[in-house]
Amino acid sequence: MGEIVIKGLTKRYGPVTAVEDLDLDVESAEFVTLLGPSGCGKTTTLRCIAGLEKPDAGEIVIDGRTVVSAEKGIFVPPEKRDVGMVFQSYALWPHMSVFANVAYPLRMRRVPRREVRPSVMEALGTVGLADYAGRPATMLSGGQQQRVALARALVARPRVLLFDEPLSNLDARLRANMRTELRSLRTRIQATSVYVTHDQVEALTLSDRIVVMSEGRAHQTGRPQEIYVRPRTRFVADFLGFDNVFDGRVVGVRDGWYDIELKIGTPAKRGDAGPVIAAPARTEPPLEVGAAVWLAVRSSGLSPAYPDGSPVGGKGGGANGRRAITGAVVARMYLGEDVEYAVDVDGHRLIVRDRADPGDPGDPGDPQKDDLQFAEGSEMRIEIDPRRTAVFERTSQPSGVADPDSLTLTR
Ligand SMILES: Nc1ncnc2c1ncn2[C@@H]1O[C@H](COP(=O)(O)OP(=O)(O)OP(=O)(O)O)[C@@H](O)[C@H]1O
Ligand SMILES: [Mg+2]
Repeated sequence: MGEIVIKGLTKRYGPVTAVEDLDLDVESAEFVTLLGPSGCGKTTTLRCIAGLEKPDAGEIVIDGRTVVSAEKGIFVPPEKRDVGMVFQSYALWPHMSVFANVAYPLRMRRVPRREVRPSVMEALGTVGLADYAGRPATMLSGGQQQRVALARALVARPRVLLFDEPLSNLDARLRANMRTELRSLRTRIQATSVYVTHDQVEALTLSDRIVVMSEGRAHQTGRPQEIYVRPRTRFVADFLGFDNVFDGRVVGVRDGWYDIELKIGTPAKRGDAGPVIAAPARTEPPLEVGAAVWLAVRSSGLSPAYPDGSPVGGKGGGANGRRAITGAVVARMYLGEDVEYAVDVDGHRLIVRDRADPGDPGDPGDPQKDDLQFAEGSEMRIEIDPRRTAVFERTSQPSGVADPDSLTLTR
C-alpha cells in the first residue's frame, strides 16, 4: 500500500492552467476524494498521478519513489507506476470477454498463465461477477460493466487506486447501490485511493478526507463532517449546499459566537436595525465588530413559522422577534419526505426546507384537501437555526464562484 505525496503540481494546456500549485498528501490505505465543479482540474490531477499527463511543475512521489518531477526531469511511464484506474466511461474492450478484460493488466505485466485465472476470478468475486466471466463484455448492464472495470483495476493489486467519476454514467438507483458497494469494498481492500467526483454525497459517504477544488486549486481539505459543517470559504459553502446567503455585519462577539445583523428582514421594532442572529465564530482570523460578512445557511437551517410566531411542523422553534424574518411564499415544492419553499423576503429569494407532515395514519385523507402548511402566496415567518450557519468575511467577489449574482442575495 503506497502513500502519495504531491508537491506544487501545475499543469497547463496552452493558456489554460488546469491545476495550479497543488499540494496533497494521501496516507497509506487512505481514501481521499477530489470534489469540485466541472473544469476545476480533478481529472487532470488524477491523470498526472497515473502518468497519463506530464505536469509543467511539481512532483509526485508514490510509496517513496518519485514517479514524476518536472524539475529533476523524472518521468516514470504509467505501466511502471503500479496504479489501477477506473474511468467514467468503463473503457472495456468490446471484443473481449469479461474474463479477458479483467486479465488484460496481468497479461501486460506478463504474469504467468497459471496465476492469471485465480487472480481474475478473485477480482470478479470481489465485485460479485464470478458467474459472468465467459460473457462478452458488451452483453452487460452499465452497472455490471462498471464492476468489470473495477475488477480490472483491482486485479493486479496495485499500490494505488484512482477513480474518475466511476458512477456518473449510472442511473440514480444503480448509482446509490454501487456507492454502497464501493463503500464496503474500500473497507475490505484498504487500498490507497484517490477518487474524483462532483457529487457531494459520493464524496461524503466514501472518503476519509475530501479536497474541495476550484479553478485548479485546493480550497479546503478535511474530514467529510468538517467540510460539510464548517466550510472555510464562501465557495466551499456554496458548493456544499448552503443555499441561502445573507449580507450582514458583525454587531457583537461573545464566547464562541458572533451576533450578525442581517440586511434583510423585518426589524423587531420600528427604528431598530435588521434582525440579529447568532452564528458560530469560526472564522480564521477572528472578525471584529463592524466587519462586513456573508452569513450562509442551508435550507434545512431555516424553519417556517406562522406570522404570529407559532412554530410549524417538526422543527419550528419558539418565537424570537430578533431572529425571525418574514416573507411571501412564491413556490412550494413537495419532495415526499420534505417540503421546500421559495420565499421572497424584501426582493431576495430564500429556500426553506421543512419535514412534510405525514398525516394521520388512520385517516384515509380527503383527496381534495391539501395537507401542506403554507400555500403559495401566503405569508411565512422564517427562523434561522444559529448552529447551522457559517460566516465568511465579505470580499468583493467570492473566490471560485464564476457568477456571484446567481448565488448570493447581495443587492
Ligand atoms: N487535453 C486538454 N486540452 C486542453 N485543455 C484541457 C485538456 N484537458 C483539460 N483541459 C482543461 O483543463 C481544465 C481542467 O480540466 P479537467 O478535465 O481536469 O476538469 P475536471 O475537474 O475533471 O472537470 P469535469 O468535472 O468536467 O470532468 C479545464 O478548463 C479543461 O477545459
Ligand atoms: Mg473530469
